[in-house]
Amino acid sequence: MIDIFIYWRLYQLLVVIPVMYFDLAPKSRREDLFNFEDVLERLKHGIESSRIVAVLAPRRYGKTSVLKTFLSESGYPHLFIDARRIIVSEGFMNIRGFMVELSNALTNFIRENRSLLDRFIESIKDINGVEISKSSIKLSWSKRNRADIASILDRLQRWAFEQGQRIIIAFDEFQEFRPLPVKLTHMLAYVYDDLPNIVIVVTGSQIGLLYDMLSLDDPSSPLYGRPIYEVRLRRLSRDEAIEFLRKGFEQTSIKVEEGFLSKAVE
Ligand SMILES: Nc1ncnc2c1ncn2[C@@H]1O[C@H](COP(=O)(O)OP(=O)(O)OP(=O)(O)O)[C@@H](O)[C@H]1O
Ligand SMILES: [Mg+2]
Repeated sequence: MIDIFIYWRLYQLLVVIPVMYFDLAPKSRREDLFNFEDVLERLKHGIESSRIVAVLAPRRYGKTSVLKTFLSESGYPHLFIDARRIIVSEGFMNIRGFMVELSNALTNFIRENRSLLDRFIESIKDINGVEISKSSIKLSWSKRNRADIASILDRLQRWAFEQGQRIIIAFDEFQEFRPLPVKLTHMLAYVYDDLPNIVIVVTGSQIGLLYDMLSLDDPSSPLYGRPIYEVRLRRLSRDEAIEFLRKGFEQTSIKVEEGFLSKAVE
């Protein structure tokens, strides 16, 4: 018994979970994010107080990292739909890729919320174009039998209402969905007006294009006159950038001179 305890303590001491600022993948843990406490707080406030939240910044500012970190630690049930994954697997944005990505998001959703599995599956199994096998969900994209997204959203709303909580549907790089024949802005307006337990979060690096797509000021747009909550990411100041590099190098155990850090951010 004592031996097992000693081995366990040794294991705890030796196995260090890496916390790496310099990891090139989007982050999904708060401790891997440098100085984003305020951004995470604003995102939380937006999600608690609004119906549509837009996380906006140029490329590589940390939009996906902030969103993923929030989703992984806030405990909100969510669907994460990544435009780039569709473009990578299909070569361009198309309806098939979108339906596959939405199927995966729904499958992850029921797997992460196992307690709702049977009930939710029961509630969607009769919807047109929805196929259920074991614990995964497949949506049909064929023109004849295309999955009825509005009905799926209705069931998500009903479930969230019964649970007394909000569900987040997140679209990473929303402007990339523009070529789809599915009218996403109509979908957003439907959620806005009729599904109060669903919050939409979009990220966008092409801010002009994203706002063109939403057309909030255009009376002919479905989203006309509906305010959205903006979370804009800021550029790191010079001092913050130096601090980021200093801490990042500390994590890799590579020794660097202060002068090198100052030069690096010039
Ligand atoms: N605050 C931060 N702390 C640590 N690493 C960060 C931070 N912000 C961004 N990064 C890193 O910068 C890179 C870009 O981050 P991320 O992919 O989240 O940005 P993005 O704005 O979504 O980029 P893109 O426009 O390419 O989608 C990643 O390597 C990520 O790990
Ligand atoms: Mg991104």
